[in-house]
Amino acid sequence: MPIDTTAVSSDQVVCVTGAGGFIASWLVKLLLEKGYTVRGTVRNPDDQKNAHLTNLQGAKDRLSLFSADLLDFESLQAAITGCHGVFHTASPVTDDPEKVEQAIIGTKNVMTAAAEANVRRVVFTSSIGTVYMNPNRSPDTVVDESCWSDLEFCKNTKNWYCYAKTKAEQAAWEVAKERGIDLVVVNPMLVLGPMLQEGVNASVVHMMKYLTGSAKTYVNAVQGYVDVKDVAKAHVLVYETPSASGRYICVESMLHRGELVDILAHFFPQYPLPTKCSDEVNPRKKPYKYTVEKLMSLGMEFTPIQQCIYETVKSLQEKGTIENKEIGRLQQISGLTKLKPVKF
Ligand SMILES: NC(=O)c1ccc[n+]([C@@H]2O[C@H](COP(=O)([O-])OP(=O)(O)OC[C@H]3O[C@@H](n4cnc5c(N)ncnc54)[C@H](OP(=O)(O)O)[C@@H]3O)[C@@H](O)[C@H]2O)c1
Repeated sequence: MPIDTTAVSSDQVVCVTGAGGFIASWLVKLLLEKGYTVRGTVRNPDDQKNAHLTNLQGAKDRLSLFSADLLDFESLQAAITGCHGVFHTASPVTDDPEKVEQAIIGTKNVMTAAAEANVRRVVFTSSIGTVYMNPNRSPDTVVDESCWSDLEFCKNTKNWYCYAKTKAEQAAWEVAKERGIDLVVVNPMLVLGPMLQEGVNASVVHMMKYLTGSAKTYVNAVQGYVDVKDVAKAHVLVYETPSASGRYICVESMLHRGELVDILAHFFPQYPLPTKCSDEVNPRKKPYKYTVEKLMSLGMEFTPIQQCIYETVKSLQEKGTIENKEIGRLQQISGLTKLKPVKF
């Protein structure tokens, strides 16, 4: 995409929360490539799972890792004080109701620390889950940045991830208004793509069951997808564009699960991919209408989803998470089985 590649002066200091995560790792990489000095917060800088960050180009001179937990205001404040900008990506990505408060309190803590540090802009990684979860929306409505998920619906359907993200984004907007912070929000759909981190994150797990043969059928459902590198670029784009404001839906395309397995089968026929839908009665679910024009008007271009899916599987193969053989077989890696699918 035609992202501005002009080098940024290294005296531009930005903080990325949850720096070791899937999206944040690509964001840290891009920010370092652009010349920023980056402070990344992780829960434990000495944990091997964050080692990939210190190997990034430019990390030796311009990346420092701060130990911070979302529930510990002082730890966040130490990382954010002195920064020009903050990218708040850290959040539990889970449907565990006990983690809801972490997402909300953590966001309030980050916003408050950013206000006290007088940062130029905060970019918050929200989710499409804060936008589309509304059973009362007419099928003709085009989902755009004015839409909000219905909190009662999220609660009643136990979509705790969407509930937490909606409450967290609302909290971010409230603190921004109260404290006069320049806040811009990115709302990605499900994020796929190559992983820089050692483990496998929840959104990539979404695809794993088809490659391992554990799903014998695919569901009658649709999902929007976007490449992780594009999500990182979108964050930098909205940070660097002075006129950027409000929320930005970030998605390349929406696929029925049948289309997803067809793409997988095209590139990787060696895996035991399902060929049948679990619902043979109802017609194929259609994608809801949405627009990504707001982000594209800033110059954003997206990686085709086929390429993104291809690179995701290649990355899983390179990690040894799935075997790169004629007949694929899952090598269970520690942590993978702990991740439960989340509705993004
Ligand atoms: N992946 C997607 O499809 C997708 C789509 C839309 C929005 N998002 C949003 O994007 C952001 C990043 O997601 P991701 O996919 O990159 O997930 P991820 O790899 O699981 O990253 C989440 C990060 O948040 C950190 N974190 C969680 N709880 C924390 C706490 N209490 N204190 C400090 N750090 C904490 C994690 O640290 P640990 O490693 O220590 O747990 C991890 O670094 C999240 O805000 C998520 O809601 C993701």
